[in-house]
Amino acid sequence: MKERIRMSNVKFMSGENVPLEMHKVRMVQKVNLLPVEKRVKCIEDAGFNTFLLNNRDIFMDMLTDSGVNAMSQEQYAAMMQCDDSYAGSETFYRLEAVLKDIFGMEYFLPAHQGRACENIISQTLVSPGQVVVMNYHFTTSKAHITVNGGRVEEIIRDEGFKITSNDPFKGDIDIDKLKESIARNGKENIAFVRVEAGTNLIGGQPVSMQNLREVSKICRDEGILLVYDGSLLGDNLYFVKIRDEQYRDVDIKEITREIAALTDVFYFSARKLGSARGGGILTSNRELYLKMRELITLYEGFLTYGGMSVREMEALAVGLEETMDIDVISQTPIMVEALCNELIASGVPVVTPPGGLGCHVDAMQFCSHIPQAQYPAGALAAALFIASGVRCMERGTLSEQRNEDGSERFADMELARIAFPRRVFTLSQVKYTADRLAWLYKNRELIGGLEFVDEPKMLRFFFGRLKAIGDWPERLAEQFRKDFGESL
Ligand code: F0G
Repeated sequence: MKERIRMSNVKFMSGENVPLEMHKVRMVQKVNLLPVEKRVKCIEDAGFNTFLLNNRDIFMDMLTDSGVNAMSQEQYAAMMQCDDSYAGSETFYRLEAVLKDIFGMEYFLPAHQGRACENIISQTLVSPGQVVVMNYHFTTSKAHITVNGGRVEEIIRDEGFKITSNDPFKGDIDIDKLKESIARNGKENIAFVRVEAGTNLIGGQPVSMQNLREVSKICRDEGILLVYDGSLLGDNLYFVKIRDEQYRDVDIKEITREIAALTDVFYFSARKLGSARGGGILTSNRELYLKMRELITLYEGFLTYGGMSVREMEALAVGLEETMDIDVISQTPIMVEALCNELIASGVPVVTPPGGLGCHVDAMQFCSHIPQAQYPAGALAAALFIASGVRCMERGTLSEQRNEDGSERFADMELARIAFPRRVFTLSQVKYTADRLAWLYKNRELIGGLEFVDEPKMLRFFFGRLKAIGDWPERLAEQFRKDFGESL
């Protein structure tokens, strides 16, 4: 065996499955836990939108893993020795060399974050009336495709939509649906096929190597471009390694190269992959590279920084190398699993198998008394903040855009996503979150719906404002006081 999965090899005498941290903390930030009455006031002031809360009022910020992962001492050290220049910095060439080494692709275009890559790719490849076929959309990827006149067709296997499942790779594309889509749309009308690693909106679910190979073969046979969103590649690599027998003894770097070789364009948010800030596009297709290059200089900056600071590029280069270490990429998934298991033991409905990125609570079941038009996942996210000071993210109908005629587009899943910034929170904090969610579940009938007060047209979930229907936040806080006394 070339590489041991050390995390799963540490056994406890008790037989308990403990997610053991393989790092130590040497820099800390104090957090603030407000009394429940103040938390009610804060969420009201934030228009019941967790994006609009102030960090100073939050106990555990589990909104996202984006740009808030803990960095290693090696990453910080690298940030101190960067070469700053507008054009041709040593830092850029160092990053480019690391990327070429890891992914084995010819060309690298830097961008300021993941959605910037989506802008460049969509502007280059999507013409009005075309379709982009994908396992599942991400909010910003879909928005960029539609802004360019395209539409999205999702062809994930039906299993991907099941909340509880034993399927190890729920992010897989349904091969029959892919063939049917090509036959129906005609390959000339398909701008590209998009595969998203660690499929975000269905619960951070991975894509199998077998599936990627099959999709890649079909795309190559048909002459359709395959674009891979590798923002959550780290989680996906971990799951391939532990859930696919065939890859148990394969080096993470070898798996990464295999993935890259199966795709035509590989892009990523470096706020997630590599635990830094920024993004990038890789390809070996020269013609495509040249087309996208022009847009980088138009939107992002010169080709040797693309909107990233040299410090971030240095941190990214080291962070990408660290992604090839199982002890680094295992940390989030094992914590997610620990939280999911505690919640399952309390009867709380969560997406299974546990994915990467975060623990996903099924608001459709949790708040089955709240109609989808009153945003059950948004209400649950607000209620969790009231009950705990934990900030999570709505990933349901609020995160959708209305149909052309103004009617609601109800999401396939109503999830409250409790994301894990990598290597930030400890097990006791995870247990606290589980405890408060279990309490909330017991008192779920107290949670009520939400309605918009101010609704932006584009990506409304980011800064839309809502209000509670009725006085449920106050009644929830009263129940909290009854059950927890003076406790924060
Ligand atoms: N693709 C995926 C799969 C993502 O999860 C994200 C961001 C992006 C693209 C866009 O990258 O934020 O750097 O522009 N996801 C964050 C989240 C925002 O919280 O899930 P970005």
